[in-house]
Amino acid sequence: MATSLSRPDTDTASRKTLPFEEATRVRRSIRGFLDQAVPDSLIREVLEDAQHAPSNCNTQPWNTHIVRGEKLKQLSALLHVKNDAGEFTPDFSFDQNDFYGEYRKRNDALGKAYYESMNVMREDKEGRHRAGAMNYSFFNAPQAAFLFMPSFGDNVRVAGDIGMYGQTFLLSLAARGLGGIPQTALGFFAGAIREFLGIPAELKLLFGISFGYPDDDAPGNRIRMDRVPVETSVTFHT
Ligand SMILES: Cc1cc2nc3c(=O)[nH]c(=O)nc-3n(C[C@H](O)[C@H](O)[C@H](O)COP(=O)(O)O)c2cc1C
Repeated sequence: MATSLSRPDTDTASRKTLPFEEATRVRRSIRGFLDQAVPDSLIREVLEDAQHAPSNCNTQPWNTHIVRGEKLKQLSALLHVKNDAGEFTPDFSFDQNDFYGEYRKRNDALGKAYYESMNVMREDKEGRHRAGAMNYSFFNAPQAAFLFMPSFGDNVRVAGDIGMYGQTFLLSLAARGLGGIPQTALGFFAGAIREFLGIPAELKLLFGISFGYPDDDAPGNRIRMDRVPVETSVTFHT
């Protein structure tokens, strides 16, 4: 059954958030959550923040579906079955082999950090499958947001809009003491998720965000990804 959240009351709306710089530095991908649901009023605040993201031609193309409780458990079971069977139904293609040079190295660094944090050896295929499948347990988060979008042209611009919405959502979580992880892995089963939630075919799934209260003791939360210096990414022209 689809339900919606009430508007924030004055109490929760006045709750303190981290300053911008702190929120951007504190945010990282959370891969382990406490079994504690985020209250409706807090989810509503995060959604209100995300709603302020910019968008190409003001289309505001985000169609967000929040799934929790028994429904999320059922969806998790379904996604594990589909993942084990290799029944992928993505809306958008994705191939890590497309990465080259420095981009490939950075992707490799993430893979190494991910499997090391979960004590999985590189050659342990079964262990790697199990570690990857944690995406479909939503890393134990009691709620997840699915970022659906309409399809316009080659979808590049609308995907950019969803990215902006997603980052605003993630920064809002961080600023409020919560955590989240964007997951392309959820997009691999776009068709199955759409059918399960009764979402029309015209809406495409780019990625989902599992979110909640971070479990500081979870192995997946040992991962820390460095950033290359600004000079590597930025060129000034005068
Ligand atoms: C659009 C998007 C999709 C992502 N998909 C996944 C995913 O499916 N599974 C996962 O474990 N991490 C996923 N990540 C998280 C990245 O691995 C992470 O952002 C990157 O390694 C940098 O680490 P940080 O977020 O902790 O700073 C995704 C990130 C983005 C932006």
